Amino acid sequence: MTSQFTKKNEAWSARFSEPVSDLVKRYTASVFFDKRLAQVDIQGSLAHAEMLCFKEIISQADYAEIVRGMTQISAEISSNRFNWQLDLEDVHLNIEKRLTEIVGDAGKRLHTGRSRNDQVATDIRLYIRGAIDDITGLLRQFRLALLDLAEQHADTIMPGFTHMQVAQPITFGHHMLAYVEMFGRDAERMADCRKRVNRLPLGAAALAGTTFPIDRERVAAALQFDAVCTNSLDAVSDRDFAIEFCAAAALIMTHISRMSEELVIWMSPRIGFIDIADRFCTGSSIMPQKKNPDVPELARGKTGRVNGHLIALLTLMKGQPLAYNKDNQEDKEPLFDTVDTVVDTLRIFAEMAKGISVKPEAMRQAALQGYATATDLADYLVKKGLPFRDAHEAVAHAVKTCVSKGCDLSELSLDDLRAFSSLIENDIFAVLTLEGSVAARDHLGGTAPAQVRAAIHRWRTEL
Ligand code: ARG
Repeated sequence: MTSQFTKKNEAWSARFSEPVSDLVKRYTASVFFDKRLAQVDIQGSLAHAEMLCFKEIISQADYAEIVRGMTQISAEISSNRFNWQLDLEDVHLNIEKRLTEIVGDAGKRLHTGRSRNDQVATDIRLYIRGAIDDITGLLRQFRLALLDLAEQHADTIMPGFTHMQVAQPITFGHHMLAYVEMFGRDAERMADCRKRVNRLPLGAAALAGTTFPIDRERVAAALQFDAVCTNSLDAVSDRDFAIEFCAAAALIMTHISRMSEELVIWMSPRIGFIDIADRFCTGSSIMPQKKNPDVPELARGKTGRVNGHLIALLTLMKGQPLAYNKDNQEDKEPLFDTVDTVVDTLRIFAEMAKGISVKPEAMRQAALQGYATATDLADYLVKKGLPFRDAHEAVAHAVKTCVSKGCDLSELSLDDLRAFSSLIENDIFAVLTLEGSVAARDHLGGTAPAQVRAAIHRWRTEL
């Protein structure tokens, strides 16, 4: 049996009178990165073949042979015995060639009514769908770990900052819950993106559809797609779903990076709010005293590459006329690296959250500096009838006095305080404590320990 594939110029040999130059071969080949799609490629091919058989486009015997061949190929790939060949350009042609080696003509019938254009679009969607499901699971684990931290520290007081200046007392639990919210929205974005990823391009063939009596819904159901793509040109050419995925991934990394920045600052000996377990840190080759928060630093750095991949895909798409263009082959490396980076980062952060030890005394001391309860004093005056702007001004004078005396607002005597407003009475001292300050912010979304506990409960029920 002579196969087209065994001739000098691979899949399209008869049309060409000379072989592709080695340089071009290497330039156009994608097999060394798109082989990662092998298992989803086989899955897609099996669903396509089953439909071809059901519609009597290929015989039962051919279908059985295709299943047998693909089963063997899948095992060869899983056990690293598959011989990937650059000459065969990409994952699709490598697998198809091997199938034909194993099962002969049945293998050559697999590509009936299909093109690599709808095939690769299907593979990418299956791959991203799997990545979304993995990332969603990791986001859940990470949030559960953050909830544990929040619960242990629902009462632990720290300074809340704006402009990196001490603003008002908050609890560490409340601070952790801010990240739970962010990663919660990230999970929502993944779920939303999944809806648009989970549609089947197969059947679009090269760009216009196929002359065979195919059943696209049958293939969609077999591959657990929610629906089929309803325009063949769009189905093979757009990668907006991949861009959307990368945008959602970039936001995850942005949130990770913000948290990393805080962990690095908090672990600085000059701040000393937390320690991170040794297994997540490294030392210095020259300075024996050093313990560096490498994991958060690297995560902050890796955010740059994920953001970069988003821009790469947007740029890749923007100049393409309909329908498929080879440009799209360039979608894979940014996409794969995005998935690897986000998956590894979330996995390590979910672990590292358990290795964060909080130093409540250092947080408390920091909250006692910087007049964190100044707003509480202003609110107190407002409740006694003073307009807020006047209260703000009176407290500003009080803070100025404290700065020159080098003391906290709570350390002024009642007489000292009354010099700023005669509305101030003995009940002020409860207001000026850190505990009084956080407990008073007792409404949905506030930092009061009771609210923190309620929020933890809500999240646990949801997760
Ligand atoms: N390797 C190609 C890709 O990644 C597969 C589709 C190629 N189609 C084509 N007509 N050259 O997009």
